[in-house]
Amino acid sequence: MRSNLMLLLLAVLLQITRATRLLKFTNVKCQDLPTTAGLTRYDYCRLKVVRRNHVELSLKVSLLQLPVRNLTTRLQCFQRRDGYRPFMYNVLFDFCKLMDGRRRELSFERFVFDAISKHSNFNHSCPWKENHMTVEKFALDPTLINVPFPAGVFTFYAYGIPRTLTQVFFEKAD
Ligand SMILES: *[C@@H]1O[C@H](CO)[C@@H](O)[C@H](O)[C@H]1NC(C)=O
Ligand SMILES: *[C@@H]1O[C@H](CO)[C@@H](O)[C@H](O)[C@H]1NC(C)=O
Repeated sequence: MRSNLMLLLLAVLLQITRATRLLKFTNVKCQDLPTTAGLTRYDYCRLKVVRRNHVELSLKVSLLQLPVRNLTTRLQCFQRRDGYRPFMYNVLFDFCKLMDGRRRELSFERFVFDAISKHSNFNHSCPWKENHMTVEKFALDPTLINVPFPAGVFTFYAYGIPRTLTQVFFEKAD
């Protein structure tokens, strides 16, 4: 598992060095899962085409039972071939631990969330006390991210129970 992860990271880094095509969001879908039990509420989740090949993602989910002491995230990446198929990447990680600025272990999820970090309020340690999680105007930077798969799914869990599902789809544009 660990070596697969490093291989994927290497593949992503190699892609970066020969990134000649743009990568842009094509769709985003967000939902509160039935199991959220009043803990979350999506306020918005949308893409905005700012200019050709520059598409910004914004989303806000309100957290209605604070503080949140336990947050885990599953990140799955899909490839497209006769519909969406699971890619080699599917991992569950401790979101609180990842956001704890004191720990800086290299991992694929670190790579992904570092990219989003400046456009979000995710950089919090736990217990999480702010009443929302927000991403504002996040566009994929083709010089930083050129991922070899066209879809990612983030499932957020609190206390081991799945609460929200966020699906993002992207494509390479010439
Ligand atoms: C996140 O927070 C930590 C600790 O406060 C800080 O060291 C780090 O620079 C922050 N990272 C970003 C991307 O803002
Ligand atoms: C979060 O909650 C789940 C379910 O109760 C538990 O399995 C997990 O160990 C908890 N994580 C932390 C960091 O406490």
